[in-house]
Amino acid sequence: MTTSLTDAATPSIGIHDLALATSHHSLDLESLADHHGIDPAKFTVGIGQHVMSVLAADEDIVTMAADATARIIARNGTDGIRTLLFATESGIDQSKSAGVYVHSLVGLPPTVRVVELKQACYSATAALQFAVGLIARDPSQKVLVVASDVARYDLGSSGESTQGAAAAAMLVQANPALLAVENPAGVYTEDVMDFWRPNYRSTALVDGKGSIKAYLNAIGGAWQDYADQGGEPFESFASICYHQPFTKMATKAHRHLAVLNGQNPTPVEVAAYLEDTMRYNRLIGNSYTASVYVALASLLDHADDLTGARVGLASYGSGSVAEFFGGVVQPGYRDHLRREEHTAMIDTRVPLDHTAYEVLHKTTLPEDGREYRTTAERAGSFRFVGLNEHRRLYERG
Ligand code: CAA
Repeated sequence: MTTSLTDAATPSIGIHDLALATSHHSLDLESLADHHGIDPAKFTVGIGQHVMSVLAADEDIVTMAADATARIIARNGTDGIRTLLFATESGIDQSKSAGVYVHSLVGLPPTVRVVELKQACYSATAALQFAVGLIARDPSQKVLVVASDVARYDLGSSGESTQGAAAAAMLVQANPALLAVENPAGVYTEDVMDFWRPNYRSTALVDGKGSIKAYLNAIGGAWQDYADQGGEPFESFASICYHQPFTKMATKAHRHLAVLNGQNPTPVEVAAYLEDTMRYNRLIGNSYTASVYVALASLLDHADDLTGARVGLASYGSGSVAEFFGGVVQPGYRDHLRREEHTAMIDTRVPLDHTAYEVLHKTTLPEDGREYRTTAERAGSFRFVGLNEHRRLYERG
């Protein structure tokens, strides 16, 4: 039986504000197809991606995360925020949380605990559930959940067209304005080598076809666990936001869950059901753990009135962990959206030609501790300035 956490005794808990950030640059996938002599329809139709975000030299997961978090703070202030959970699989340090840099850049008080979480593309969902738990213990507290990732594969590899970059910052609190998170959550964990990135590599290794199978198997397992715990019927979801390494993957996952639930939707029906969840990801590319929350922002920003509707979140992180849970869209949510901001952020990226994209992809940071300065390119408020004595340097614009 679903517990809606919305009865009089317990306040509802969920996402109060959701802000996205992405990179300064973009690469049109038609130009990538052109460079490799591939039919562009393989990318635009076959995998469902049109453009991907590409980081400038002075950007990283911290600058994107700081951009998104600063906008949350500009609107909501810092009162009540006691925790910042930073979710990423593109970590910049084996020890220090990227969230501590964000904490400093956006001016959070010292009375905020900060920690980084990792489990491939899944960790933002773990962070959201941990945030709900903290707030259930003390409903006066608020938690910043910040997911930020850059998806990087080798040049010329089959994964290259599924790169991208984005951050999603969420303010999680009692009586949220956007989405109240429901119980139960269905989870599924299995040790699989479908996608991984050893510490000595800057690009991921992937068993492409195997990863698609692993994703479907894990999402099916999470759905089954959700159902076993008395979750709501499949038909009750007005929409489902899937992790989108590429948007076609969401259509494969939705069809898989539909079949498990005795349905047989046509490809056109699946595409129509998911369309509003895919609008941003199609233009940003994979943003790993941010991706399912980019899908949620896309849905809320584009769908007709969803007030009172139940939305599913289907999160998958290779390796692998999956989770399925529902949330109820709150009355008045449309007054709290950021559609214009998100659209402008995507539309004002500076397109790269293929040569400039390859130069950026091949750029590596020195590892010997010498001083290094990045070129100033970034339009956002925060820049990765460079390195000195093995320390990363950032500045606020
Ligand atoms: N016109 C239209 N469609 C075309 C086409 C054309 N000219 N040419 C090919 N296609 C279609 C194919 O039929 C195929 O569609 P289906 O999957 O529906 O059959 C699709 O385009 C892709 O073609 P291929 O399978 O031949 O593509 P590929 O093998 O070169 O690469 C990929 C596809 C395996 C997804 C690869 O991009 C990859 O490895 N990506 C990274 C891994 C990944 O994203 N995995 C997803 C699950 S893991 C996960 O979700 C975690 C994460 O974030 C990484």
